[in-house]
Amino acid sequence: MLRNIFIYIALICCSCRNDVMSIQIGSPSENIRIFIENNQNITYSVRFNDKVVINKSLLGILFKDGNKLFLDPVIINVSEKNEDEIWELPWGEVKNIRNNYREKTISIKDKGNGMLVDLIFRAYDDGISFRYYVKDIEKRDKIIIISDELTQFNLTNDAEAWWTPAYGDNRYEELYQKSNVSEMDTSHTPLTIRYSDGIHLSIHESELVEYSSMQIFYDSDNQLNCDLAPWSNGDKVRAKLPFQTPWRTIKITDSAEGLLRSYLTLNCNEPSKIEDASWIKPAKYIGIWWGMILGKWTWDESFKHGATNERSFKYIDFAAAHGFDEVLIEGWASGWQGLFPKDSVTVSFTESTSDFDLRKVQNYAKSKGISIQSYHETMANTENYLEQIDSAFYLLNKLGIKNVKIGHVGKKLDRKEFHYGQYGVDYFRKVLNKALEYKIGVNFHEPIKDTGERRTYPNMLTREGARGMEYNAWPGGNPPEHTTILPFTRLLNAPMDFTPGIFDLLLENIDADVKVEFPVTFTVIDSGNGYNDLSFISEESFWQRKPMNVDTISFGDENIYIWKIVQNCQEGEWEWGAVADHLGLKSYDIWLPQLMDNGSNRKFKVSSTGEIFGETSIIIPSNKIDLSNIYFSRTKQKMKKQRVSSTLAKQLALYIVIYSPLQMASDFIENYMDVPAFNFIMDVPVNWDTTVVLNGEIGEFVTIARQEKNSKDWYIGSITNEDERVFDINLDFLNDGKFKVTIYSDNEFSDWHTNPLEYDIKDTFYTNSNTHSIRLAKGGGQAIKLEYISQK
Ligand code: NOJ
Repeated sequence: MLRNIFIYIALICCSCRNDVMSIQIGSPSENIRIFIENNQNITYSVRFNDKVVINKSLLGILFKDGNKLFLDPVIINVSEKNEDEIWELPWGEVKNIRNNYREKTISIKDKGNGMLVDLIFRAYDDGISFRYYVKDIEKRDKIIIISDELTQFNLTNDAEAWWTPAYGDNRYEELYQKSNVSEMDTSHTPLTIRYSDGIHLSIHESELVEYSSMQIFYDSDNQLNCDLAPWSNGDKVRAKLPFQTPWRTIKITDSAEGLLRSYLTLNCNEPSKIEDASWIKPAKYIGIWWGMILGKWTWDESFKHGATNERSFKYIDFAAAHGFDEVLIEGWASGWQGLFPKDSVTVSFTESTSDFDLRKVQNYAKSKGISIQSYHETMANTENYLEQIDSAFYLLNKLGIKNVKIGHVGKKLDRKEFHYGQYGVDYFRKVLNKALEYKIGVNFHEPIKDTGERRTYPNMLTREGARGMEYNAWPGGNPPEHTTILPFTRLLNAPMDFTPGIFDLLLENIDADVKVEFPVTFTVIDSGNGYNDLSFISEESFWQRKPMNVDTISFGDENIYIWKIVQNCQEGEWEWGAVADHLGLKSYDIWLPQLMDNGSNRKFKVSSTGEIFGETSIIIPSNKIDLSNIYFSRTKQKMKKQRVSSTLAKQLALYIVIYSPLQMASDFIENYMDVPAFNFIMDVPVNWDTTVVLNGEIGEFVTIARQEKNSKDWYIGSITNEDERVFDINLDFLNDGKFKVTIYSDNEFSDWHTNPLEYDIKDTFYTNSNTHSIRLAKGGGQAIKLEYISQK
């Protein structure tokens, strides 16, 4: 490890002009300069290549007891330190990271309230960071409540921003919005900003510990402000003196790609807590998962229960035969009642359902050289989880289960606190510490956002914290541009368990493993009310929309519309209904059963021998439209049918573009059988030596190359939004030698909307003097494997 630290030369190197004290910090190559001023208030501003990128911005903190920083600040000391080190990641998108900055600690005595504060500023060549360290020696150990942080990030004009709204029920799982900053709502971070001259900023925080999350809101005059997520009683932070804030970080680069090359968030975290990280295992996995997300299987014990011994053995056999390391098994725990039940106290993290034997299944996995990835769904009930956490992690450790996915579905933790308020920050850190104690790797879902913890806690493997694949199982889904925004926002330095790899993009093959089905005809007769576009929806077909066909019969002046569909149904008792649009009334997705006197879902039953019982038709008499009562199932715009908005080649490219040390192949295993594209998923590694960002624009396209760790093989992933594109990439980043190249590409017929399943596989040979031409279809992608074969 190269280390070069000039430690603390205490000095006051400030220029004083009319009582204004100003301090400057230049980054190692002087392209970034920070200016801190004390003019009764403390402010900072930032220049990048001699252009102002952050205008004079206020620093300060408000306390509940009425105290305030800063009232009458006096700078009493300035010390400085330079750092230039290269540190090694035990796993990651790169092997080594350079941490090179100049730092100044500005010690301030606030004469107004007697408080002592250090402001620590760092200038890097790719951005800046700063934090407050509030000391106040006299009041040591006193609990102090922060009611606001006054930090600003003022821009020079009304730049463009990519942001997600904070404080919604879905936590971080929102589609990104693009607008000018002046049109922004309070946004989560990282918040990505682009000036019209191409300078990009990413405002975020690093080392978020014992504090609450920072969100950003727009004020006026291009001013962006820090917002802290409150506790349920309105306190923002409860701190014990002395305390320090997380680092406030701003990545500053002259291109979108530059943001991806910066490791500033990680650099601002403390080095690893552990010497030996060899027990931490990145993994490629499949799972008993997609079936629950689609509604085909259940998490709880039912006749559709997903996590049965039998299915687990089948998935383990498939995983072992195809080179996977783990099988995620969700819904194995006893006590799970219904879908994210109101009372989650019953969920156990050690006892399994009666049709699942954890020890037996894990032993079977181990006999095949792989493991379960365990699953703890807390349902956001942290009390229940923390009560069981020791026994739960002890069990994992004893069974040799290395990694656990921990879910927190719920609007708030314990129905009270934001996932990203201080309670949440403390809770997630507690779990991480416990996992470290028991040597478990963590995959958080419904998590706290990533602020670079993995540098200190290498067992913090991956997390969700944005809309992943699961949204494509539900109406609305993720549009094609979503995955071209993520790399420049949520994914900056931050692995995500996105779970790519759906091959059945139109969700046509969900029934793949169903053995016996019987045809059933469903009819909706509309006696002249003018409904359009009827779709059949039923529990039996996992609530996926299926268009119905119409016949019209005329009786004199009246038209009767007969909508029909024949569905192959399995044995069981099922609910069904139909949705319709009414163009005249500009209403969409009207749930027809709700219009009737008996407003409940219709029910039918299929016996084991194929006899059909129950209601298989709905008759809507004329004049039955009373839309005033239809509120829950009526939309102003038609909801999109569930599907994955991508080409198949793009699904492969996501394994490179979206970095995660736990990488899932998320489809049903039946959809991978005998599919040539699956070879790419089998081959692609999850641990990298080097990452090269080849091109990219936010929300448009991105191309990334990565070299496998401990190997000379490279992989490239390139994706686009709804637009088709063609470009060349220069392969000069490859090591010397010859590579056997396998290209998984969209072909001339591919199109995410009309023809998503088409792709080509071509082989060729390249060296680093070649240029490769990439053509991406609309909503498409390309994935390339470059296998090193010889020196020449
Ligand atoms: C939402 C998560 O994102 C998904 O992966 C998980 O299966 C469900 N919650 C249940 O925990």
